[in-house]
Amino acid sequence: MIDIHAHILPAVDDGPDTIEESIEICKVAANDGIKTIVATPHSRDGVYEAESDEILKTVEDLNLKLKENEVGVEILPGAEIHIHEGLVESIKEGKTLTINNGGKFILFELPFVFIPPGTDKFIFNLKVNGIVPILAHAERISAFQKSPELLEQLVNIGARVQINAHGLTKRANPKERKCAEWLLKNRLVHFIASDTHSLKGRPPILSEAVKCASRIVGEEEARALVCHNPEQIINGLDIE
Ligand SMILES: [Fe+2]
Repeated sequence: MIDIHAHILPAVDDGPDTIEESIEICKVAANDGIKTIVATPHSRDGVYEAESDEILKTVEDLNLKLKENEVGVEILPGAEIHIHEGLVESIKEGKTLTINNGGKFILFELPFVFIPPGTDKFIFNLKVNGIVPILAHAERISAFQKSPELLEQLVNIGARVQINAHGLTKRANPKERKCAEWLLKNRLVHFIASDTHSLKGRPPILSEAVKCASRIVGEEEARALVCHNPEQIINGLDIE
């Protein structure tokens, strides 16, 4: 499996503080059958200001340590970003990291309480510029919890959708779970990812969510959300 949303890099954002902690998280991921993790630190959002060079270097260092410790997980670079004016230029100049540094897919987050006006135009503009935006943890955004069909409009103009593995489990907030299940039923989910920050809360475990999703969309489709679809985007290829 491939996890496309994880705060796995040490001392870059609100993920692990040390490289030892990062390695412990990766061991749990490996035990769950995760082979590849896209590191998506909060980046250039006014709170966490990790630059692309720092993220790339930290990914390299962590991969070396994982090899030394014989942990069978590979880390790829990425970031979790806010959409903002000048984003297209920032991506083209390499200041904002795309998934696997491929220049094509970005993981972005929206505020939890409202959808900023103009989000649809923003998504369209990215699409026109050859960039595909993937919305992080859609089930946590209250506007979609109230009206999940709003997300369909964003998908129709080119957005792709990620939900958190945690959101499908019994431990999830009921509103988040209801929304995640509705989105799955209506085939508006392209990825399940962990959004792990530590071993507490949201550990890097996808298998449990795949089982939950299988009951809604069947095993083959559920597995595509953690295998085929993530593999496509780390290789720069779009998905159905
Ligand atoms: Fe995140």
